[in-house]
Amino acid sequence: MLKLGIIGTNWITQQFIDAAQASGAWQLTTVYSRQLARAKEFAATNQVAETFDDLEQFFSQGSFDAVYIASPNSLHFEQAKLALQYEKHVIVEKPAVANPAEFAQLDACLAAHPNCLLFEAARQVHEVNFKRVKDQIAKMTQIQGATLTYMKYSSRYDAVLAGKTPNIFSLDFAGGALQDLGVYLVYDAVGWFGLPVKETYVPTLTRTNVDGKGIAILNYPNFTITLNVGKTSNSFLPSEINGLRDAIVMNNPAELAQVAYHDVTGQVKTIGVQPDANPMLAEARDFAAVINDPTGHKTDYQNWRQLSRDVNQLLFNLRQSGHIYFNDAERQLSAK
Ligand SMILES: NC(=O)c1ccc[n+]([C@@H]2O[C@H](COP(=O)([O-])OP(=O)(O)OC[C@H]3O[C@@H](n4cnc5c(N)ncnc54)[C@H](OP(=O)(O)O)[C@@H]3O)[C@@H](O)[C@H]2O)c1
Repeated sequence: MLKLGIIGTNWITQQFIDAAQASGAWQLTTVYSRQLARAKEFAATNQVAETFDDLEQFFSQGSFDAVYIASPNSLHFEQAKLALQYEKHVIVEKPAVANPAEFAQLDACLAAHPNCLLFEAARQVHEVNFKRVKDQIAKMTQIQGATLTYMKYSSRYDAVLAGKTPNIFSLDFAGGALQDLGVYLVYDAVGWFGLPVKETYVPTLTRTNVDGKGIAILNYPNFTITLNVGKTSNSFLPSEINGLRDAIVMNNPAELAQVAYHDVTGQVKTIGVQPDANPMLAEARDFAAVINDPTGHKTDYQNWRQLSRDVNQLLFNLRQSGHIYFNDAERQLSAK
């Protein structure tokens, strides 16, 4: 059984713990929180004893093999780097890190700690329906384009409207719609079609200067993909990938709960399966399989790392095109 430590005590961490334990491969042993009382409360709910409120002690004394990092986006990089320095495997929530410079530094850390593995928790990539869509695309005669929409009003936008700056609507915490829900759409596009030759992002900024919503245009040699993302509005549109006469239609391109193929004669066939009740189960299984047998799963791991690298690059390029910068270094890169 692999031992798991966690950073971040919001609902998503509980969902990952539930998935990890349901997979039968993981056991939660260690909880970090900035406040010891919170760590103890979270640990008690999950019937574990080891708690820390000091990150160095968490990594140096914690009796776990891998850490799941679900902190605000801008903290992922330093926390993942520290974990690797203490020879822990890392599962880091999406988006793994903010930009390619950070990604390259983590690659260098991984090279310096060759026994460690690092996974971006891009859950949908591990789910059956993601693969079903990819297989269907391969069977279609000619792709003419796609429109993927993921817009969900965030209750945290209420706080923005009330004059506050919650982490996910803050530049300091690497927030914004593209970095949050947009990651799923970018994973879809890159996972199914590879990197575009050109990308453009047209953001609608919030009072806090992050993209509350936005439209990304991805140009491929023979078609264009449009991504509609937003956290300041709801959309009920389905998403589709268009062939010549046929199409794949999805109720939601991140959740992929209903996926259908409309063939050239107009017949509709379900190509998806019923998703797991816990959408993080597939990734929890996959990560454990690789950690338990890295040689046997080397290709999967390398493919996920490359996909994560490409997604990181595309998210960065899109932000640059939309003039959204998380720090001066990013702004200076754009001026070059
Ligand atoms: N895969 C998915 O389906 C999914 C869903 C939701 C979120 N996520 C990802 O999970 C990560 C966390 O998202 P979230 O919405 O839970 O974020 P959040 O509520 O802003 O923060 C998550 C945790 O980080 C700690 N934290 C909060 N503010 C902090 C600060 N200023 N400095 C240091 N630590 C702080 C808190 O834990 P303590 O108080 O215990 O320290 C908190 O529980 C993000 O990367 C997000 O993209 C993924």
